Amino acid sequence: MQKLSQNFQKNVTSFLENYQNSHVLRLHMPGHKGQALIPSLAGAYAWDITEIHGADSLFEADGILKSAQQETARIYQTGATFWSAGGSTLCIQAMLAQMKAERRTMLAARTVHRAFLNSCVLLDLPVRWIFPCSGSLIGGFYDLSDFEHALQEVSEPACIYVTSPDYLGNLQDIAGLSRICRKYDARLLVDNAHGAHSAFLRENQHPIANGADFCCDSAHKTLPALTGGAFLHVRNAEDAGKIQSHMQMFGSTSPSYLIMQSLESCTHWLAGQGREAIRQCEEFAKQCKKRLSEKYEVIGTDPMHLTIRVNGLEFARILRENYQMECEYADKTCLVLLLSPMLTQQDFDQLTAVLLDDLDNPDSRESLRAQNPPELSGFAEFVCDLRTAALSDWEILAPEQAEGRICATVQVPCPPAVPIVLSGERITKESLQLMRFYDLDRIAVMK
Ligand SMILES: Cc1ncc(COP(=O)(O)O)c(C=O)c1O
Repeated sequence: MQKLSQNFQKNVTSFLENYQNSHVLRLHMPGHKGQALIPSLAGAYAWDITEIHGADSLFEADGILKSAQQETARIYQTGATFWSAGGSTLCIQAMLAQMKAERRTMLAARTVHRAFLNSCVLLDLPVRWIFPCSGSLIGGFYDLSDFEHALQEVSEPACIYVTSPDYLGNLQDIAGLSRICRKYDARLLVDNAHGAHSAFLRENQHPIANGADFCCDSAHKTLPALTGGAFLHVRNAEDAGKIQSHMQMFGSTSPSYLIMQSLESCTHWLAGQGREAIRQCEEFAKQCKKRLSEKYEVIGTDPMHLTIRVNGLEFARILRENYQMECEYADKTCLVLLLSPMLTQQDFDQLTAVLLDDLDNPDSRESLRAQNPPELSGFAEFVCDLRTAALSDWEILAPEQAEGRICATVQVPCPPAVPIVLSGERITKESLQLMRFYDLDRIAVMK
């Protein structure tokens, strides 16, 4: 088991605890002064402070936040790790700002989250897209040679950006991609928002361990951390210098101490019982998936995603109404249940029993069958660049009125927030069919 540094004492937690016990008169932000309007949140308000004396400052950290972030880096075995109280979204903005500073051409696998697209708009970063060779826009599979060909075609320094795991739990071949990147002196960036646990699985599947240069992990998605808590990992410590300043360029000047405290607790937990808890969850998930695959098509390789090919909308409704279970994501093609080491064996047993036995009702079998989305053969015509389109004056149309128009800002719902049409793309019959399939009823088009 990884040992914590001797001086890692959960200093952020201690500081907050001491501060709230000291009954200091709070003549600083936030305005609630530690008092909650809602009794159930009393503890949270008491601990919610700002950058006061001794509390350090996230983007200029040189005290308790610095040493705690160094512990996170050590647990993840990275060159450096930065905390984000603005989710992976902030980490993506910072990674891309670094690529902009290095003047690299951005080659991105098409199955991106809208946070990537928005960052490119903010940074005026043009993108060359790589299309999946199979799967869908939400869960696509790629041919490594497509990345290599794309790198061969650019003469300037480049970087590759991929999402792994994707929303369905599909992992990309990060080790293979990193070998290609080394060959062409390109950087590899991974959106590992769904994979903060991956460094602690039986086989370390973390992007940094597999050769990525930068990656973001939403600790809050699969680990016990508060919503908004994320890590930005850097492989080489020499690359860390500018990242902090990129983080502060986009992050709020008031990052939540509650979130940061939860990132510290999460780090502490990972260094102790967390590793074993993750491995146990991996084992429970494996057994659960094995049993479920007798009856369902279980897809995706990441242990924390339980994705089955069914009509997820119908399934989600039944789980909600009859079993008090709420899923992560559902559409007509699949149901995604997001697991975590905080689930118990009993939870897994209950879930397996419901999916195997209770839902085995012949009357509902037809309505539970997965549908196939219409295929999208490739890119439509790009009429203008992402930034021009996203920041243009736009209007909202129903899909049937939008054919031939140019997509403005991307307005896909989250989850899964993967854009069907990109800003600047001409809207085709094909993409509209896909929008209708996913029940998207409005699209922003350039005026
Ligand atoms: C693949 C992917 N990347 C990035 C993000 C953004 O992460 P966060 O919500 O932590 O900002 C999400 C959020 O759902 C996501 O699914």
